[in-house]
Amino acid sequence: MRRRLAASWPFSIESEVIRAYTGALGRHGATPQGVFWNSAASQNARFAALLAMIRAHRAETGTAGRLPLIADIGCGYGALYGYMRSRSDFAGWGYVGLDISPAMIRACQQRFASEAARFHLGATPRQPVDHALFSGTFNLCMIDDALRWQRYILDQLSACLPYCRQGMVLNLLCRRQRVITNNIFYADRQEIVAELRQRFGDVRIAETPGVKHDTTFLIPA
Ligand SMILES: C[S@@+](CC[C@H](N)C(=O)[O-])C[C@H]1O[C@@H](n2cnc3c(N)ncnc32)[C@H](O)[C@@H]1O
Repeated sequence: MRRRLAASWPFSIESEVIRAYTGALGRHGATPQGVFWNSAASQNARFAALLAMIRAHRAETGTAGRLPLIADIGCGYGALYGYMRSRSDFAGWGYVGLDISPAMIRACQQRFASEAARFHLGATPRQPVDHALFSGTFNLCMIDDALRWQRYILDQLSACLPYCRQGMVLNLLCRRQRVITNNIFYADRQEIVAELRQRFGDVRIAETPGVKHDTTFLIPA
């Protein structure tokens, strides 16, 4: 009994999340609905906003001249990789995808079989990267304690930051109050900005164009 508890404890907050995503992928396949997005349009709008934030940061830090390596944390079935590959703006950008769901990583490795090694099970990069990117990674929440979930998000970001040479970009759904509704976490926008600043210092924010309630954040390293 003690051995079972010890093995499952660190991942308990994630086990139901993994189960929910595995179910969605089984029902809908490698589609936006398979990762609980409403549409490809909102999925792509989030990618565009996050990548625009990275590009602006690269320009600001004078690193735009060399090709970056991006870690896509919570990569799902690899939609961002497909998005970047189909746009010349991102030609030559390095990419690694990580996800805590084995089913999602298997889906990526099947979709991009010749590049299967880009995708790994996990929640933190295995190597130094320029930027870590999180799109929708923390939206689905299978507990009912919003403050605990918010601490979990902050801890996940803290664990990733040491691997990031330039910084991290993420999106979160935001409302006036921190709340979990239908298993979707909404941050209190003012509160989360204050928490991020307290933990990480400088933080930039922008509303995600075309996606209601969604905010894009940059945390410079
Ligand atoms: C809403 S889906 C978004 C997938 C992808 N980013 C996209 O936009 O198509 C969230 C993904 O994050 C993964 N995930 C959730 N929590 C995670 C964590 N702490 N670390 C890594 N992946 C996580 C889930 O398994 C799921 O595949």
